[in-house]
Order: sequence, then structure tokens, then C-alpha cells
Amino acid sequence: MSLLKFPSGFLWGAATSSYQVEGAHDEDGRSPSIWDTFSRQPGRVREAHNGDVACDSYHRIDEDVALLKALGAKTYRFSVAWPRVVPTGRGAVNEKGLDYYRRLVDALIAADIEPMLTLYHWDLPQCLQDQGGWQVRQTAHDFVAYAEAVFKALAGRVRLWITMNEPWCIANLSHQMGEHAPGLRDHQAAVSAAHHVLLAHGLAVRKFRELGLPGEIGMAPNVDWREPYSQRQEDLDACRRGLEWFNNWYLDPIYRGHYPEEMLQRYAALGVEPPVESGDMEIISSKTDFLGINYYTGSYTRAHDTPTPLQRTGDVTQELAALLNVGSVDVTGFKHTDIGWAHFPEGFYRVLLWLRDRYGNPPVYITENGACYNDEPDADGRVRDGRRIAYYEHHLIALHRAIRSGCNLKGYTAWSLLDNFEWAWGYTMRFGLVHVDFKTLKRTPKDSFHWLKQVYEANALRP
Ligand code: NOJ
Repeated sequence: MSLLKFPSGFLWGAATSSYQVEGAHDEDGRSPSIWDTFSRQPGRVREAHNGDVACDSYHRIDEDVALLKALGAKTYRFSVAWPRVVPTGRGAVNEKGLDYYRRLVDALIAADIEPMLTLYHWDLPQCLQDQGGWQVRQTAHDFVAYAEAVFKALAGRVRLWITMNEPWCIANLSHQMGEHAPGLRDHQAAVSAAHHVLLAHGLAVRKFRELGLPGEIGMAPNVDWREPYSQRQEDLDACRRGLEWFNNWYLDPIYRGHYPEEMLQRYAALGVEPPVESGDMEIISSKTDFLGINYYTGSYTRAHDTPTPLQRTGDVTQELAALLNVGSVDVTGFKHTDIGWAHFPEGFYRVLLWLRDRYGNPPVYITENGACYNDEPDADGRVRDGRRIAYYEHHLIALHRAIRSGCNLKGYTAWSLLDNFEWAWGYTMRFGLVHVDFKTLKRTPKDSFHWLKQVYEANALRP
């Protein structure tokens, strides 16, 4: 097949996040985050792992930047830890905490790698959680004050800013499904958290404009794709509900200034509603410069044959099933990655086209895409992760098809540069292009690293 060329200047790179790689959990004034707390609660994280040391990236700027350089990365997406910068959640700024990011950004710039900075990738200061966390409006205001400190510290040196990583995980996975910190199972808590996260995003965008900072700002939601199992109306409706809960709940407010109507009504049937105050939706829909997209998987979706009645029962699992009334079907012969997610590159293509059509074709950076395969080094030290290469190849072809179909794609950061702390899975699930031995912290680039490097350097794919 002929060469698949990407647009010139396409921004290739790799991504990580603070709690997942930094370690140094109590150094230079960092206070505990909700993940320090959560990971210490029995049964929350596999093998009781935590991020105390992680990949020790806090002490390894040079080594990690050298890896990025060797990968041919033009950008590095990382996140800043709020508990390092404002350890008390609100109030005094900790310059020592900021210094780490100043050093990281300087090292990236010196290596000719564009920093892409995420302000919130899930490590809320525990002291704010103690006052209600994302369930309370005040947290949105605290976030903006923290964001302002980071904006000012790195103004002019960071050009690409992301407010929130994966709001669905911050709100739903953490407050409705209980799988992530703070581990709640409560619909109203999730919907309130979602609203305050969106509000925090909008307020930060406004602050960024007010400060007149050079650069671009956007959000990085996770999206998935739901392909209708059939053209039966019930299945089409189930897909729409699934997308409303997962994708549109966050994207509609940003791009259309309101929550998706059907899901609003369904929540209302459970007595749940977002705590919207006058003017909020205007703030939330403040114009952004780009959309970050995290995509991993999708499914064939159909309606349940016998829907659970949508009513309050007090059983959160049952209520959630009733809210969505979707059943995903895995009859397609998909391969699955080691974390159990279907390898569904067609969904990547489809969701990019859907975003193009629904939200007016905004500039998009793929801020995360990648696969969990737990290959270890062979006896010769090499990590032969051919399955990850296949995942990247298929998803990059989907990306190329989307570009050819007119999607306004600007860049792609693979998840992840390093094997790291995979949240509730601890270190048992590996997404890295670079293998990390969590005993010695030795880094070993995998076969996928060398494969992706060729793509990045050629700005093209040779399928
Ligand atoms: C999304 C999250 O942003 C990231 O933190 C996580 O490690 C990957 N997905 C893989 O689950």
C-alpha cells in the first residue's frame, strides 16, 4: 500500500499524568491528593499499589525528556499536580512545587519539544475533598485560582493548555460508579461534580483570556463510540442514550451551551438535576481553541429486551442500568487488550466524523490513544509488543481516514510514554511505549516505541 502522509506540522508525541508517573508524593511541600487517600483504602486499588514512587519521574526529567527525544516526539502532554502547587487547595502558592514544572518545561523547550499541559488529571488535594470536592461549587473557584498560578508561572513557555482530563471519569466513574477516587456511588453527586468540573473549565478559559496569555486552551474529554447493533429503533435509541451519558453530557454544554435533553429528563426521573445557576451555561460554553480527545474503545450497543423501569429504588446499580437501558454486545470477534477493552479502530474513525458533524469541526488533538498489553522483556531484554504495534497501526489508519474525510486534526499524543500507575489497576496494567521495571525503575523502550518513532519521523504511515 502507498504511504499514508499526515499534514505537515502534525504534532506527534506522548502523554502521561502527574499522579501516574511522578512519585515524590511528599516532597517539596506536596500535600496528599484524593488518590493518595483512595489508594490506601483496602480493596480500592489492585494489590494495594499507590503512586508514592510511581515512575519516579519527579527525579528523572532528563531521562524522560531523552526518551521523548529518541521517540521523535514533537510534543509532550503531562499534567500539573494541584497539591504540589497549592498544597492547601486554596491560598498560598508553593513555589517549590511550581519549580518542578518550570524545570520540566525548560528541559522540553531545550529539546525542541512543545509542552502540552493538563491542569487537572484527577489529583484533587484531599483537603478540598474534605470540604465536598467536586460536589461543591467552591471547588470550581479554587481550581481557577490554582490555574491562574500555573498560567502565570509558565506563560509564554507553554502554548497548549488543557483544563480537564476526562470529565466523565472525574464525575461518573468516581462519583456514580465508585471505581475511582473519591469512590462514591450517588447519581446526584456525579451530576453535581460534572457541573462543577464544567464550570471550572469555563472559568479557567475565561481567566486565560483575561490574562491575555499567548497560546491555545481546550478540554480533553474521553469519548467512546457506540455502533448500533441493528437499525431497529430501540437499538438506535440505546446508542443515543449511551452517547448522551458518556460523550454529549460534556461536549453539548461546551459547544451548544446546554445539557442533552433526553438524559436530563432521565436523570430528573431519578430526582437528579445539575446545580445550574444563572449564567453558568454561558461560562461553560466560552469559546475554546481546540478539543482534546481521548479514545480507546467502543462497542456495538443495543437496547435491553426487558428494560428496567426508570424509577428511584435506592439501588444505584439498578438505577444506572435503567437510566441508560443499553446492553453492549460483544459478538463481533473483536480482539481485546489486556485490560479487556475491545480493539475497535473503526469506532475511532466514526467518533471523529461524529464530532466533526455535531460540533462544527473544531480543531482536534488526539490527547490519548493507546493499548494495554502486559508484555515483559524477553530473555534478551527486548519487549516484543507486536499487539500494541497492531493497535497503533489500525488506529493511525483510522486517524488518517478521518483527516482525509475533512476532520480538523492537529496532533496525536500516544498514551503512554511510560508504563505507569493505572489507577484502580495499580501497576498491573501497562500502557507504555517504554517498559518500566517498578522495582528498579529501569526504562526499556518497547518494539512499539521504535515502530512509532518511524511514523513520527516520517510523518507518515507505511501500512
Ligand atoms: C485515560 C486516562 O486519562 C489515563 O490516566 C489512563 O491511564 C488511560 N486512560 C488508560 O486507562
